[in-house]
Amino acid sequence: MEISQPDPDKLKMFSFVLYSQLSGAVTAGMIHLGDRLGLYGVLAAADAPLSSSEIAVKSDLHERWVREWASNQVAARLVEADHSDPHEPRFSLTPEGRAVLADESHPAFGMGMFHRLPSTMERLAELPDCFATGRGFDYDAHGHDGAVGIERSFEPWSNAHLVPVVLPTLDGVVERLRRGIRVADIGCGAGSAVCTMAAAFPDSSFVGYDISHHALSIAREKATSRGLKNVSFVDVHDEGIPTDSSFGFVTTFDCIHDMTRPREMVRTIRRAIADDGVWLLVDIKARETLEQNVTKNPMAALMYGISVLSCMASALSEENGEGLGTLGLPASKAEEFAREAGFRSFSVLPVDHSVNAFYEIRP
Ligand SMILES: C[S@@+](CC[C@H](N)C(=O)[O-])C[C@H]1O[C@@H](n2cnc3c(N)ncnc32)[C@H](O)[C@@H]1O
Repeated sequence: MEISQPDPDKLKMFSFVLYSQLSGAVTAGMIHLGDRLGLYGVLAAADAPLSSSEIAVKSDLHERWVREWASNQVAARLVEADHSDPHEPRFSLTPEGRAVLADESHPAFGMGMFHRLPSTMERLAELPDCFATGRGFDYDAHGHDGAVGIERSFEPWSNAHLVPVVLPTLDGVVERLRRGIRVADIGCGAGSAVCTMAAAFPDSSFVGYDISHHALSIAREKATSRGLKNVSFVDVHDEGIPTDSSFGFVTTFDCIHDMTRPREMVRTIRRAIADDGVWLLVDIKARETLEQNVTKNPMAALMYGISVLSCMASALSEENGEGLGTLGLPASKAEEFAREAGFRSFSVLPVDHSVNAFYEIRP
């Protein structure tokens, strides 16, 4: 094949695309700092734009560092600047910026993945070995901050939407939860979803299953601090999921694609669930092919990258792991797993979510 010479204009554009990725990566680090150092909190709490000196005083940090950070944030269009005095710009957040960057209770709060950015990126050091051996690492490889980052990613949305919006889309489930059934949340992470449900349905009993020690310890603390008596947590490595048809409702949130043996897990879920029970499967909204993912999903690059750093690494953390990864469970595969395990009903739920798909699955 004859190799043609680069076109000078396209070359510039290509370099621009390349460096805009680096700009995103570096700014992501600055976002981590803004969250971790409380800088977004200071900006959100202010009732007027602040100078870098004022931010520095309020956050007890050095002004010069704060000023450079704020300049990055303005250039990245995350923080607003009033340039009336060009030598002393004043910084503020828009209402949208406040919701996404500083309001932990807002469903659009977005700091979770930035919280775990350093622990996620640290894995780069061992990834060359993973590519060579084929073997990945589980969620605990990301340490305590990795589990907190996942918790902060999912909890705001699930606090706001799980009980009032999602559960009512499942035929008869809310009524049965009110009367009292056994519920399993598998791959429960830091227990956000299961604690929210346990608080809303005190007559039902809930068990969260996971394999991450970090996530399970956060989950147990959360249940204790909220005074929840109807939820417990189990490490699947210590105690398997009971396959005695005792659960009336099983949930899995964003975890089947992370598992080394997802087909086996779906078969276990079928055996764990009562014949009149329901499985709520929530997983990343993936398309069937790379082409569809990259053309229809503006976050595809982020997702394939996170897959290497986290999801697929987890799904390959044991010998012969299935290795689905972040975009590895499109509806067709989820349905195939479910039917193969003996589930006979599979339907897509009408829940509007930018990242996740919701399925109601019944025996
Ligand atoms: C992306 S996190 C989601 C956590 C939680 N469901 C949430 O929404 O916050 C995926 C979770 O799946 C867990 N996981 C992976 N393989 C598992 C397995 N075989 N059994 C139980 N949990 C597993 C991980 O430890 C991790 O906590």
